[in-house]
Amino acid sequence: MRLLDACARKPVDATPVWLMRQAGRYLPEYRAIREKMSFVEMCRRPDIAAEVTLQPLRRYELDAAIIFADILLPLEPMGIGFHFTPEDGPVIERPVRSAKDLEGVHAIDAASDLGYVMDAIRLVRHELQGRTPLIGFSGAPFTLASYIVEGGHSRAYAHVKKLMYDDPVTFGRLMGLISEVVVDYLKAQISAGAQVVQLFDSWVGWLSPYDYDLLVLPHVRYVIDQVKGHGAPVIYFGNGASAMLHLVAKAGSEVIGVDWRIELDRARDQLGGVAIQGNLDPITLLGPAKAIEARVADVIRRAAGRPGHIFNLGHGLIPQTPPDNVKYLVDAVHRLSAVAPPA
Ligand code: CP3
Repeated sequence: MRLLDACARKPVDATPVWLMRQAGRYLPEYRAIREKMSFVEMCRRPDIAAEVTLQPLRRYELDAAIIFADILLPLEPMGIGFHFTPEDGPVIERPVRSAKDLEGVHAIDAASDLGYVMDAIRLVRHELQGRTPLIGFSGAPFTLASYIVEGGHSRAYAHVKKLMYDDPVTFGRLMGLISEVVVDYLKAQISAGAQVVQLFDSWVGWLSPYDYDLLVLPHVRYVIDQVKGHGAPVIYFGNGASAMLHLVAKAGSEVIGVDWRIELDRARDQLGGVAIQGNLDPITLLGPAKAIEARVADVIRRAAGRPGHIFNLGHGLIPQTPPDNVKYLVDAVHRLSAVAPPA
């Protein structure tokens, strides 16, 4: 399977491609289900989560499925709680901003507390019959901490950064606790059948390299170190982190995901001997075929046929994306990267 070969930096016949937010609101068949129930209900129903995971694979020649879930799901069994509102997106019910707040937060047993995710993974693996690999995922420690401390979306990350500076011990304890949750959650997903796991560090790009290196990277390294060697390669994606890839490279994952703010070849130079995932700007998909083609070709040209490239977006698909453009993209990646078989 191309994706697993690329993770191991083995040669492939065409660049593997999957997309962040592969399932979701840009697909009418997703919206038809979503009209009948909330997003969190969809996640909690293994049959629905499995169906939604498979929807994009019926339309497109994708090289991986990513399990339909959300990075916030562990917050419920941790005792923090969350819900989504149409206006504000995620709302955290009991944000943690002090040592006292942290007292109510606990580790989880992911295999049972998030058993519905594991059931969805098992269902998808059964449906895929080994044809396409399945990716599991979790939020990375800082990205989860930023939701837990901020209480939802944030512009300046003022609460979480203030906690880092005012009370580094409590911040460190929170990060340590989240890291244990993430390790347990990812291992449970691998045991249930995830063949690759991705750590999403969506908001790490708002940190200075100094704070990232000192207060965040040690926790990322710990998580990856604990999860590695359990049979599934780890992809670590740091959104907005292209100015500190030399630090991201120290995380220790087999694959590093990069956003669109850097040319792929420059990213590779900074990352050294790892596989690289990326890095088309997802908004490109709102443009016409000609514009998509030129930008896909640029990414492929910069990958230069060297083994260990997984094509992806630099961040998630947005709801306005035309489904036909996604098809154009996936086919273009395979067409432009195909290697002629030996004569
Ligand atoms: O990629 C996939 O197809 C798998 C499913 C997936 C979702 N969320 C589904 C989802 C994955 C991998 C995620 C990860 C996730 N969730 C991240 C990390 C990736 C990233 O984008 O940086 C983050 C930050 C979240 C938190 C989250 N969940 C946000 C900010 C939102 C949007 C809230 C809003 O509506 O403004 C969600 C909801 C969400 N997660 C949707 C989907 C399909 C939309 C739900 C809906 O139908 O209303």
